[in-house]
Amino acid sequence: MTRQHQHAHAPGHPAAPGTPPLSPTAHWEQRYAESDRVWSGKVNATTASVVAAFTPGEAIDLGCGEGGDVLWLAEHGWTAQGLDISPTAVGRARAEAEARRLATATFAATDLEAWEPEPSSADLVTASFFQSDVALERTAILRRAATVLRPGGHLVLVSHAAPPSWASDHPARMIGSREEVEQLALPAAEWEVVTCEDRPRPAVGPDGAPGEHLDAVVVLRRR
Ligand SMILES: C[S@@+](CC[C@H](N)C(=O)[O-])C[C@H]1O[C@@H](n2cnc3c(N)ncnc32)[C@H](O)[C@@H]1O
Repeated sequence: MTRQHQHAHAPGHPAAPGTPPLSPTAHWEQRYAESDRVWSGKVNATTASVVAAFTPGEAIDLGCGEGGDVLWLAEHGWTAQGLDISPTAVGRARAEAEARRLATATFAATDLEAWEPEPSSADLVTASFFQSDVALERTAILRRAATVLRPGGHLVLVSHAAPPSWASDHPARMIGSREEVEQLALPAAEWEVVTCEDRPRPAVGPDGAPGEHLDAVVVLRRR
């Protein structure tokens, strides 16, 4: 698979009974500290396939992790900024941008729950698998992110609609494309729903057997 979720992504270890839950920052820091690299470093194929049709401009990637999507955007003409709660992940993304001499890929360690973006300042907002097994006010963040878009700009959300075929469950909260659009509840007068579909994506399970992911793909365009 591309980086889309190698599910080497063993979901975090369960806390011992009685242990207070980690804050989202501590949880994700621990997750990234567990290995030198959590994701493959490549762009998410579904996100790339959608964005490839757009004219490059300014982009923001929410929950960018180690930056694979932002690096790809910068390599394809975008000025792209990645935001993530984990300073470790952001540090890895920055180091990779420097190694590839990509000045148009920038990153900031940001808790998006406290994020106050500048309205109408970008042409594209992406969020690939911006899902968590700890507290995350996801819909509120995505609604705020929508305000960042200029007229004609796109909000591209690619999410796990279901656990991978080889896993009976997954700690992150799943969301289907229709549920996503309903929860966002963006006014139709201002937003065109360009894509709202759950797309199967072939993958290989941890035992090497063929399997499948189900990606919820939502693309909204600001009129
Ligand atoms: C499942 S990972 C996806 C990472 C990346 N987009 C990818 O596709 O590889 C979810 C990401 O969301 C980030 N995240 C979770 N809560 C966040 C928050 N409140 N603010 C910013 N980032 C957050 C995590 O640190 C993690 O990198």
